[in-house]
Amino acid sequence: MSDGRILVIGGTGATGSEAVRHLVQRSLPVRVVSRDPSRAVENPALRGAELVAGDSSRPETLAEAFRDVEKLYLVPPTHPGWDETQSAMIDMAAAAGVRHAAKLSVFGADPAEPSLILRFHHRGEQEIQRRGIGFTHIRANSFFQNVLLLDAPAIKAQSAFYSCVGDARFAKVDARDIGEVVATVLSEPGHENRTYELTGPDPLTYDDIAAELSRALGREIRYVDMPPDDYAALLISVGVPQWLAEEFATLYGRGKQRAGASARVTSTVEDLLGRPPRSFADWAREHADVLRAA
Ligand SMILES: NC(=O)c1ccc[n+]([C@@H]2O[C@H](COP(=O)([O-])OP(=O)(O)OC[C@H]3O[C@@H](n4cnc5c(N)ncnc54)[C@H](OP(=O)(O)O)[C@@H]3O)[C@@H](O)[C@H]2O)c1
Repeated sequence: MSDGRILVIGGTGATGSEAVRHLVQRSLPVRVVSRDPSRAVENPALRGAELVAGDSSRPETLAEAFRDVEKLYLVPPTHPGWDETQSAMIDMAAAAGVRHAAKLSVFGADPAEPSLILRFHHRGEQEIQRRGIGFTHIRANSFFQNVLLLDAPAIKAQSAFYSCVGDARFAKVDARDIGEVVATVLSEPGHENRTYELTGPDPLTYDDIAAELSRALGREIRYVDMPPDDYAALLISVGVPQWLAEEFATLYGRGKQRAGASARVTSTVEDLLGRPPRSFADWAREHADVLRAA
């Protein structure tokens, strides 16, 4: 018997940890799989969840994690073998009898785009549907939290950040809102076999984002736009693997996002949570200390 257990793959990450926090608050049995449960146990967001060892980039390590699971939040990791691992995890979910899977996907998932990420997530959505698993596709716009991962070092050292989006607008979203939506989707009825597009409240250009960061940090932060090839070279120079640097240049600079496809604001977060999504201005104020030069 599964007793309604929910498996979260990617539960130590930006959206997964927040999904776990909210599911545990709802007194639901949650299992988190991590490559390093001894580190995960220190994460306050995961308190009250069962932690098991497993590596989502090596699905053969996940057999125990899938035992007696009824629902799944799947955050497929970004790594070179992602297609095979995503497919394998969906196969395992079907074999384990998972009834409902929420999969983190991407805003604008599209099989016809040059971006690997937009195609990868579209394929994952299709595979879940083909397997007959109840699905909720969580098509999220790009996260506010990417600033911490990709841009923080340059913001601290040069008061600048770089990309190749031109003056395209993005209705970026707080990963914490995504996690809370996932908890709602997996714990309340009525969300199966739906696709949800999640955005923040404001379609911002990267110059707008620079202005918000400047206000929050109390000093001028500049956005520097580059041609996609130069942006890929910059990412490689700071240690991003070549395939991923090329992919980020394509995702942001060579397809429909640069043409404005991620500017659309949806009401989904507010519809599902009963409150507006967090704004980038608030996020920047909240994270000003970690973005200030040490
Ligand atoms: N960032 C965005 O703006 C955005 C927007 C829409 C969709 N997405 C999608 O979100 C997914 C993951 O997002 P993320 O990269 O930001 O991760 P994340 O949610 O921060 O975490 C993913 C988790 O996967 C686990 N993992 C296993 N193997 C990994 C590997 N080889 N590399 C990295 N993590 C690994 C890690 O857990 P342990 O260390 O505990 O094992 C990690 O906590 C991707 O499918 C991405 O396309 C991202």
